Amino acid sequence: MNYRHLGRTGIRVSELSFGSWITFKNQVDVKDAVEIMAAAYDAGVNFFDNAEAYASGKSEEVMGEALKKLKWRRGSYLVTTKIFWGLHGGVNERNTLNRKRLIEGINGSLERLQLEYVDVIYCHRPDKTTPIEETVWAMHNIIEWGKAFYWGTSEWDADEIVAALEIAEKHHLHKPVTEQPEYNLFERQRFEKQYARLFKDYGYGSTTFSPLASGMLTGKYLNGIPEDSRAALKGYDWLHDDVTDKDRLAKVGALQSIANELGCTVSQLSLAWVLKNPNVSTVITGASRVEQLHENMNAAEVAPKLTSDVLEKIDEAFGVKKEEEEE
Ligand SMILES: NC(=O)c1ccc[n+]([C@@H]2O[C@H](COP(=O)([O-])OP(=O)(O)OC[C@H]3O[C@@H](n4cnc5c(N)ncnc54)[C@H](OP(=O)(O)O)[C@@H]3O)[C@@H](O)[C@H]2O)c1
Repeated sequence: MNYRHLGRTGIRVSELSFGSWITFKNQVDVKDAVEIMAAAYDAGVNFFDNAEAYASGKSEEVMGEALKKLKWRRGSYLVTTKIFWGLHGGVNERNTLNRKRLIEGINGSLERLQLEYVDVIYCHRPDKTTPIEETVWAMHNIIEWGKAFYWGTSEWDADEIVAALEIAEKHHLHKPVTEQPEYNLFERQRFEKQYARLFKDYGYGSTTFSPLASGMLTGKYLNGIPEDSRAALKGYDWLHDDVTDKDRLAKVGALQSIANELGCTVSQLSLAWVLKNPNVSTVITGASRVEQLHENMNAAEVAPKLTSDVLEKIDEAFGVKKEEEEE
């Protein structure tokens, strides 16, 4: 496993990490979580991502129980969580980054995770109604109180992140250090274009999510929706349009041919492609069973095979034009 600095912090994160969205509680119980997390840890993963909203808090409970059973040295791994949507319907408790919610939120997460602190706490989405200054102060306090060591943003616009950085700079507060954006072969624009200056000028970190576009980039949906897949879960019908879209499937088919030539799986190729981007601090992977985890952890070995020729072929398959052709 290779380790990369989380932006300009002194913390190093495994370039492949693991998150529990959808899977924990819905597909994975404590016993399976122990098995999957142990396999990840044995492969060198040191970054485990969660959020209070995942399975309405139950995902944190499953991870907390698993960590208790695993008995790892706390210094040897990082746990992260995210707050925004809330668990209750109260007017100050949903879709917000107000001070009260963030502080009550972190307290709840720590209780469910059975931890004294998380390593990174994220604002899971931007809040267009709470002043960014209020959010920055709350995150600063959470860090000062030892409930988290670092804080980050998730799916914020670049100008919102810059505003938070500048407020923190002005008041000598803890700055956000990393984004958690979607980044995969289907979703490139924001990461590669909008965030470019954040990486270059501010050394902002990135813990990227859904590298396989919810499993689409494994090739598993080429012949329909498998019964044991995420898209077949009750309540996940919103995924159907994406995983049955003819244009997207054709792209995955082309990727399958490239993977065959390289002697790897489509999942490994898709993960390796994300890993190739030096602005990525860690690629947060997901798995509903341990075999997937094993397969995905070998993606780092595929990354060196992605020469400029191969990358060009992939761009072609996904209809991405070269910079100079666009101009
Ligand atoms: N900040 C945010 O807003 C946000 C949003 C989304 C995710 N995240 C984070 O990022 C993590 C990863 O996201 P994700 O779960 O969407 O990642 P993903 O890699 O796009 O999808 C993971 C899913 O793909 C399938 N899969 C994975 N490896 C496979 C393989 N080798 N062969 C066949 N199928 C495979 C599994 O689903 P099946 O059950 O179908 O097999 C697995 O659960 C999350 O757990 C979460 O921590 C953050």
